[in-house]
Amino acid sequence: MCGIFGYVGKENGAAETVLEGLKLLEYRGYDSWGIAVKQGKKLVYEKHVGKIGDAKVHLPKSILGIGHTRWATHGGVTEKNAHPHLDCTKTIAVVHNGIVENFQELKAELIEKGHKFISETDTEVIPHLVEENLKREGFSSSVRDAFNSLKGLNAVVVANAVSKEIVAAKTGSPLIAGIGGKELFVASDASAIVKHTNKVVFLEDNQMVILGEKLKLISLPKGQEIKPNIYALDWKFEDTKKGKYKHFLLKEIQEEPRVIENIALNYTVEINQLVKLIDQAFGTFMLGCGTASYAAIAGTYLFSRIAKKHVNFSIGSEFDYLEDYLTDKSLVIPISQSGETIDVVDPVAKAKKKGCKIAAIVNVLGSTLYRQADYKILLGAGQEKAVVSTKAFIAMISVLILAAYSLARKQTQGKNLLMKAAKNVREIFKDEFNKTLQKMADELKHKEHIYIIGRGLSYATALEATLKLKETACIHAEGFAGGELKHGVIALIEKGAPCIVFAPNDETYNDIISNAQEIKARGGFIIGVGPKNNTVFDRFLETADVGDATIIPQVVISQLLAYYLALKRGIKDPDKPRNLAKSVTVK
Ligand code: F6R
Repeated sequence: MCGIFGYVGKENGAAETVLEGLKLLEYRGYDSWGIAVKQGKKLVYEKHVGKIGDAKVHLPKSILGIGHTRWATHGGVTEKNAHPHLDCTKTIAVVHNGIVENFQELKAELIEKGHKFISETDTEVIPHLVEENLKREGFSSSVRDAFNSLKGLNAVVVANAVSKEIVAAKTGSPLIAGIGGKELFVASDASAIVKHTNKVVFLEDNQMVILGEKLKLISLPKGQEIKPNIYALDWKFEDTKKGKYKHFLLKEIQEEPRVIENIALNYTVEINQLVKLIDQAFGTFMLGCGTASYAAIAGTYLFSRIAKKHVNFSIGSEFDYLEDYLTDKSLVIPISQSGETIDVVDPVAKAKKKGCKIAAIVNVLGSTLYRQADYKILLGAGQEKAVVSTKAFIAMISVLILAAYSLARKQTQGKNLLMKAAKNVREIFKDEFNKTLQKMADELKHKEHIYIIGRGLSYATALEATLKLKETACIHAEGFAGGELKHGVIALIEKGAPCIVFAPNDETYNDIISNAQEIKARGGFIIGVGPKNNTVFDRFLETADVGDATIIPQVVISQLLAYYLALKRGIKDPDKPRNLAKSVTVK
């Protein structure tokens, strides 16, 4: 949940390079940040509370530095608790992502030995453990032994001003090392490194990397040197910039037609392989968290409607409790943008142990999920920088639509439908429609609650639209299946309560209109979204009828509405909603 960056290299380059890296990682956590660089045989640092934004640092020129952008777990959001944390001698500095579960015992032992602590964090035990170990062994062994004594899932980066090295190790959270000529990097994700090099090494759990004169990969707990597997990244640095857009969120929404077309035109081989696995499996289970879980729910409807195939669904964090019935004939399809979500990665590891086949649908090359999977489909959505997921969801849905059509032996029909959906999304981006959405955002901006309903595939839309409004516009929204209305929620409807009704041209139309009537009869204000207007609607947002792909324009409209609503409600940076982090690597 935090962003980590480390650099060893050119004379004078460290502070600026680390700061730039942190700015690219800020979406991972943004309550406080800090950087430490080597100055002579000591480390000097700066720490700040709040977002990095356009901050500058006033640190000496240096060849080595580490930095961190924090999303607090242990200890409040204060400068003292911000990373890096240092040992008593100020030669060792540590940045960390994860939770040291046994930090209280370790801290008590270290205090007994005379170490002084200044923060409330679990992290601070690490530099002191390394300091203690350095009394009897070298730097990399000291980090190895300190790391081996930590309980929990952790990624740790340790800088040593005396040996001029950085050592990084991980169990749970992601770490990637980059090799760029005489410069070496380590970061929580590749987007922060791609400006400098496309040659990267993805650290596996229980691996450690030493960045000194060159890169050395070490396996833990024992410490044998192993040969690194060097990947070539295909992401471009330009993707990390907003370009002409004010926010990444809008930029990423606008990229959606290209993402859909890419899947329609270039994914035949990948989709055929996935379909073969689903065909052969005895039980297929899709899982994901948040937005990806709604893509998985949509997948169950798509496979049922289009391919007459039952595919199960579970929220990632609940899959653990459903795993008893998995066998070596089961197929597990984890869906994830980052490929790092612990609530997906963890149950997938367990399913793997049971012999299940894993076919991951994932956006980030080399991510943990990517490496866990026996078979993978890369979403090809490019980097998603806004915390709120948009284009990755559309890519997930596009893959699932194409897979369902392919399973039904109608792949060409699926491709044509996706091309049509992409064309329709471009229509949504036209000025006139955007003005309508902005006007609607203006009408909704002072509302306290928004209700959203859909049936069938549009139930998944309702859930996803709800999440977009909540996290982007910070407005309370509740999404549910239209039929559930009378089972309780209708008690909340009062005069003027806005309700968004997804009414596509499918078998759900008549019933969802009846639900809209029920809300209207109790004073609700109905916003209909679909191809056909209806007298029950107080406002109407027209979408083209793209059959089984109608979820695509429905969700794009919801994403834009959420964005405009955020702006109208005075939210300064919709790319970074409060309390959220892009990649959730803690439980
Ligand atoms: C919503 C959002 C989150 C993620 C969830 C899973 O906009 O971004 O709900 O969808 O944290 O993340 P991934 O897809 O990276 O596994």
